[in-house]
Amino acid sequence: MTTLVLGGTGKTGRRVTDRLTALGLPVRVGSRSAEPPFDWADRDGWAAVLRDVDAAYLTYYPDLTFPGALDDIRAFASLAVRSGVRRLVLLSGRGESLAEAAEQAVRESGAEWTIVRCGWFMQNFNEGYLLEPVLDGVIALPAGDVAEPFVDVDDIADVAVAALTGPEHAGRLYELTGPRLMTFADVADELSKATGRQIAYLPVTAGEYAAAAAEHGVPEAEIGPLTTLFTEILDGRNAYLADGVREALGRPARDFADFARDAAGAWTVAARDVSGGDRA
Ligand SMILES: NC(=O)c1ccc[n+]([C@@H]2O[C@H](COP(=O)([O-])OP(=O)(O)OC[C@H]3O[C@@H](n4cnc5c(N)ncnc54)[C@H](OP(=O)(O)O)[C@@H]3O)[C@@H](O)[C@H]2O)c1
Repeated sequence: MTTLVLGGTGKTGRRVTDRLTALGLPVRVGSRSAEPPFDWADRDGWAAVLRDVDAAYLTYYPDLTFPGALDDIRAFASLAVRSGVRRLVLLSGRGESLAEAAEQAVRESGAEWTIVRCGWFMQNFNEGYLLEPVLDGVIALPAGDVAEPFVDVDDIADVAVAALTGPEHAGRLYELTGPRLMTFADVADELSKATGRQIAYLPVTAGEYAAAAAEHGVPEAEIGPLTTLFTEILDGRNAYLADGVREALGRPARDFADFARDAAGAWTVAARDVSGGDRA
């Protein structure tokens, strides 16, 4: 039987896919470019993706707080169970009421479930939407001096794989954070140290953030939900540590400094790729 990994080309999904493959387990990548293709916007295609699947890792895109997400998760989980899927592992967000509603939908699906509830990913800074600001040397966010316990997606993937492959994680909600609270100014300092380049944090208002996002070509339909999401979760509600990595794996979570050190080479390569060398 196969494990389906939705978002299997994304930050956590790619790592989950690699780990399951290394264990010799059959994996189906859920992606718009896979065969059969998976697209949240094309419900007619979902059944083919779920054929002969025993367990599934559910990641949503762009975010569980976006319009339509809850309905999609509920419908997908229900179809998954009717298709014979026995185990669902949901990647969830931390401190968002709509993410909690999605968690509830998965709990009520009838499958064995595990919730992997996560803080901000460290890899947003080198594989996600914050790569470009890091390369530019200025991270502008409506985050004030709020502290976040950034989590490494390698830890998330380890927990997700444990939950997909072992029965002892059924019915568990793991809240995953890194081992320390950091402001975005702390992050900029760590990134400066790791890259040897000056990277600054610039606190902006939600309105300034939305205007800059529009200028950078973020689709109109995403700007509102994104700005609302940041305003919701960057109010200090998540400024505390959780111990989900140790609870699930029996080891500590990875620190931001280790992540930044390991990713430093990739930032240098990305800077060269983006601008032919003048930002490296
Ligand atoms: N980023 C964070 O800090 C953070 C923190 C907590 C929770 N989360 C949760 O993590 C999830 C995604 O996170 P991420 O930002 O790191 O993204 P990601 O997993 O890196 O996202 C990209 C993945 O989504 C797939 N995708 C994009 N559009 C799709 C569509 N229309 N239908 C199906 N698949 C699609 C992409 O596949 P293809 O392009 O190959 O189709 C790719 O595999 C969200 O649900 C979010 O709530 C994120």
